[in-house]
Amino acid sequence: IQTPLVDTFGRVHTSLRVSVTDRCNIRCFYCMPLENIRFKPRDELLTFEEIARVVRVASLRGVRKLRLTGGEPLVRSNLPDLIRQLREISGIEEVALTTNGMLLADQAAALKQAGLSRVNISLDSLNEATFEKITRRTGVDRVLAGIAAAQEAGFEEIRLNTVAIRNLTEEEIVPLANFARENDLHLRFIEFMPLDADKAWHTDQVLSGQEMREIISREVAPLVETNRPDKSQPATDYAYADGKQRIGFISSVTQPFCGACNRLRMTAEGQFRNCLFGTTEWDARQILRNGGSDDDLAKLLGDCVTAKKASHGMDSPEFVPPERAMYQIGG
Ligand code: GTP
Ligand code: 5AD
Ligand code: SF4
Repeated sequence: IQTPLVDTFGRVHTSLRVSVTDRCNIRCFYCMPLENIRFKPRDELLTFEEIARVVRVASLRGVRKLRLTGGEPLVRSNLPDLIRQLREISGIEEVALTTNGMLLADQAAALKQAGLSRVNISLDSLNEATFEKITRRTGVDRVLAGIAAAQEAGFEEIRLNTVAIRNLTEEEIVPLANFARENDLHLRFIEFMPLDADKAWHTDQVLSGQEMREIISREVAPLVETNRPDKSQPATDYAYADGKQRIGFISSVTQPFCGACNRLRMTAEGQFRNCLFGTTEWDARQILRNGGSDDDLAKLLGDCVTAKKASHGMDSPEFVPPERAMYQIGG
């Protein structure tokens, strides 16, 4: 085995997030522009074989966990084929998926059969009018059908990801928390980060994890702290005092988890990034397509990790949001 991917702060990188497409079937304002979107042409995206080759090399350097992201990963055709290929790579212990759920009702069974380990589903509102304000599309019912299908297909530990936005989604918090409790889902509220394409993010729109926790304890049920099982997970988990489910808060803005970050990302065009907020990319596609070796890829991973900064630096006055929006980086 080659050397593990340890950065200059001693963080060991065992998790790789692979974006499989920049396309999406909805248009969440915190991630995508509404119009004039320039999606990458198909031939610029890595093929499944190329992705599998990169993952094989990453696994030799200690990557154990994969998460497929997008855009919306389920708009990429034949995704189960990729999952099957990735599942066969020795060293890969988990292949998970983050999806907006719109296409999940059709695909859940095939994904499960292909060996997908877990699904996280994004849903910011149960109310169609608010959903539409956020996503600029309709579709709460489709997401709900997707969640039900995922449960039906036998997925366990399904997580709901809910971005919370001040002056927009306050009314959604309690209904979503109750919905999750009733349906045995693990809900996580996410602070809005400056990754929107329109660069309209402002701290005023950040509803903090702390505030959400207070709302939940007051209006749903009291919460008790839990030991975080895995410090590299973005969420701080709380248990409901009545024992019915847990709830998590991803406070990336007010309480970053960068200190325990174990993540690398690869964009759909095969560019490696060491942070969502990184400003540099390492080009794996050029190695793949110009006859480069596995050692070249292994070295590229090492270079990317070595250059990783201590944290995203969002609270520094010099902070500039990344050039690319969330849909281009991968969630
Ligand atoms: P599991 O913990 O394995 O279930 O997955 P996850 O939470 O790592 O993945 P998911 O795609 O569900 O991520 C949920 C949210 O966490 C994302 O929407 C982001 O808002 C946030 N997040 C994920 N990765 C990072 C990261 O590297 N940095 C920061 N700041 N936030 C992240
Ligand atoms: N801030 C926080 N979370 C975001 N996501 C997308 N854009 C942002 C942002 N600006 C989340 C989605 C989904 C995942 C893919 O990323 O809600 O859970
Ligand atoms: Fe699509 Fe996800 Fe971006 Fe929403 S956050 S527009 S679901 S890629």
